[in-house]
Amino acid sequence: MNGKKQVSKTEKPILNVLQGRKPSRRPVWLMRQAGRYLPEYRVLRAKAEDFLKMCLTPELATEITLQPIRRFGMDAAILFADILLIPFALGVDLEFREGEGPVLRKIEKIQDAAKLSYDDSKLFPVYETLQRVKPELPSETALIGFCGAPWTVACYMIDGNSRGNFAAAKDWVQQRPEDLQTLIDILIDASEAYLSRQIDAGAEVLQIFDSWAGLLSGADFHRFVIQPTHKLVARLKAKYPHVPIIGFPREAGEGYAPYIRETGVDTVGIDPYVDLDYAKRELQVVKPLQGNLNPDLLVKGGDEMFAALESIMKKLGPTHVVNLGHGVVPQTPPEHVAQMVDFVHNFPVT
Ligand code: CP3
Repeated sequence: MNGKKQVSKTEKPILNVLQGRKPSRRPVWLMRQAGRYLPEYRVLRAKAEDFLKMCLTPELATEITLQPIRRFGMDAAILFADILLIPFALGVDLEFREGEGPVLRKIEKIQDAAKLSYDDSKLFPVYETLQRVKPELPSETALIGFCGAPWTVACYMIDGNSRGNFAAAKDWVQQRPEDLQTLIDILIDASEAYLSRQIDAGAEVLQIFDSWAGLLSGADFHRFVIQPTHKLVARLKAKYPHVPIIGFPREAGEGYAPYIRETGVDTVGIDPYVDLDYAKRELQVVKPLQGNLNPDLLVKGGDEMFAALESIMKKLGPTHVVNLGHGVVPQTPPEHVAQMVDFVHNFPVT
């Protein structure tokens, strides 16, 4: 028997942390905890026609959402879907090509954006997935819904893929900021509708993934990362004040400090480049944090992984959500994930 802490039937440790209370056990989940590193995912993936179809088949998406929970017992399940489902619902052609990642029909000019029309019914299968997952979860496990932040989703829509490091999107920032603003506003509206329906379907926490926040700085960061996130969060909070929102402005660097103060999110996910002393001193005094184990250390495992986890947990204390600083990579050995979850759950709360 290990000393793994039991939690009461009425407690979800992650909700305690996100709402600023001390949990009885340290919560942990992993970005991309469902996916190709799991053999049981690869079995379903091989049978499915394509990735988009998998996201939009509630029976499959439910099973995939639950796979890591059954195997490892994380404190949260994250809906199996993708940030590019919003462009899909807006009418953008989207394909996930094997070994190549997502490919979208590019928005070349603002007239293309004017033709977009958000059809929420295309995402009904996603809401059904949440409804199916919820009753299957252990009582201590929270259900996380998500979307991409407007800036990050706009990057994919403008460039059509990630091969050119979003040169076209960066060009819009400099040359056509008003057009970019128009597209961002369309995405704020769609994201608000999408996340509201996710809450109605059972999501208890939301995460907003701004994976490409680090491409912007200064006034551009403020205009296209902070302000759109603030708008989206304010609209959701007006309707659902009790639902915690996690923001993840990956590689935002100096942008983290204004982001945590100004967007209204309840918790901020930090990437592996954020120094822990800085995080404690400048960020955690404002809001609880999530992160930031380097995903490469989860691949390596062993003493190096445990030492890094211990240092994160000691430094940031119990009102912190343990997670990676970016997603699980496909070459991660599942045993390391099991060891990480157990290590966190056995770690003292004080
Ligand atoms: O387990 C979970 O975290 C939930 C599901 C989830 C996926 N994508 C499934 C997925 C979540 C939360 C995402 C978010 C996502 N999608 C982001 C933000 C987080 C990040 O990684 O920065 C981004 C940028 C995307 C867009 C996207 N989707 C890319 C660039 C790719 C290709 C790269 C890759 O890893 O293959 C995807 C495909 C994707 N989304 C897969 C999964 C499991 C792999 C598809 C497959 O099995 O072939």
